[in-house]
Amino acid sequence: MNARPESSVGIDAAAFAGPRGCLDLADLAAARGIDPAKFLQGLGQRRMAIASPCEDTVSLAVAAADRALSAFDIDPGDIGTLIVGTETGVDHSKPVAVYVHELLGLSERCRTFETKHACYGAMAGLTASMDWIASGRARGRKALVIASDIARYGLGTPGEPTQGAGAVALVIDRRPRLLTIDPSRIGDFTRQVMDFWRPLYSKVAFADGHYSIRCYLDALTAARADAVGPGAELLDDLAACLYHVPFVKMAKKAHQRHLEIERGAPLDLERDADRHLLAEDHGRRVAPWLELNAEIGNIYTGSLFLALIDLLRQAADRFAGRSISLFSYGSGCGATFCLGEVAEAASDWSSALDPADDLARRRMLDITDYERFVRDGESADTAESLDPAAYGLGEGLFYVGTVDHQRRYVRG
Ligand code: CAA
Repeated sequence: MNARPESSVGIDAAAFAGPRGCLDLADLAAARGIDPAKFLQGLGQRRMAIASPCEDTVSLAVAAADRALSAFDIDPGDIGTLIVGTETGVDHSKPVAVYVHELLGLSERCRTFETKHACYGAMAGLTASMDWIASGRARGRKALVIASDIARYGLGTPGEPTQGAGAVALVIDRRPRLLTIDPSRIGDFTRQVMDFWRPLYSKVAFADGHYSIRCYLDALTAARADAVGPGAELLDDLAACLYHVPFVKMAKKAHQRHLEIERGAPLDLERDADRHLLAEDHGRRVAPWLELNAEIGNIYTGSLFLALIDLLRQAADRFAGRSISLFSYGSGCGATFCLGEVAEAASDWSSALDPADDLARRRMLDITDYERFVRDGESADTAESLDPAAYGLGEGLFYVGTVDHQRRYVRG
């Protein structure tokens, strides 16, 4: 029995799907002549998921959504809105979402579109879906929001160790089984900044890396203030704080800012007391839920929700009925800060949510394979025929080339 009021809205189902290959960051560091400690401790990353040319935003999105719908026993016919948030579109005009709509076999009575705002598209889709449900327009139907991205930076650039790939599918509904989101405490922020961008002619992103970190932290301050007021004290009531995770260390910088907002003064990490405060609070409210991010890397718009999956798979029972904060940041920039409450029975779904078996089955790429995937990926959009087996792929839905300017997908 779910005791939640009929008016509660939030995340009813979730699942992650990623590519089959991954790269160990110690191998990348060795290949680039960099101290591995910079990637492992300095950025907090262990591995990053690497998509082959046959694994694109569409195939990853379909895999995640298939998993969410079947694990949570949701009839595809009940989906009335489908939104794919992505930075990594496959066409200037045609949305990823419409391919996904067909491949999932959703009803034609479904509003379907793509949202783009760097890493912010899925949060935009989530709040738009909540509004759609609250307005009454959903008429009992659910929204499917999929975050699907492949993070690509140039070889040898500072961004290279912060790549990753994968999709998170979320079903948004009334009386959600996983997380209720409080619509009265959602705060937004937008400012035009050139911190990270990807021009139409480029497969790889450009970033003003250190500036992007400052933009992210300023957006956190502003979106949080919009959600709860600049002076509000929240942390005592929060079981966990989830942030957008371009690399694991970024969430620590974000949490430091969060603590500084609450106490109204900067932390001085030269002082033992301040260092201890950050280590203890971050170790309790943030760090435990970054295991998946450390293994998978930056999946852009899904990164925040990957941390949510990590929290729910590990601690849904302990946190039932407790509040958590969520902060989504998309460069460029747009951000949202909001508060959620873990559902009483969320722990019933902990194992359904857990991608650990898939991660254990991943294929570890060496640097030669990784660079081949990158090189082949540069021409994949115009290749007539791609063979998934050439990239070690077996069963699944894959992009197999473009014929007559039309992308082809095959389920193998
Ligand atoms: N051992 C241990 N730690 C080391 C080390 C070593 N040998 N060498 C360096 N480090 C530490 C540094 O001290 C630093 O830690 P702190 O930030 O805590 O001081 C960390 O490792 C990184 O070192 P640098 O800052 O020198 O690294 P860099 O200049 O090469 O690049 C980066 C770091 C700017 C994050 C780069 O990876 C980048 O540009 N990434 C892409 C942009 C990005 O992710 N921005 C995040 C905010 S924007 C956003 O969130 C949207 C999005 O998804 C892109």
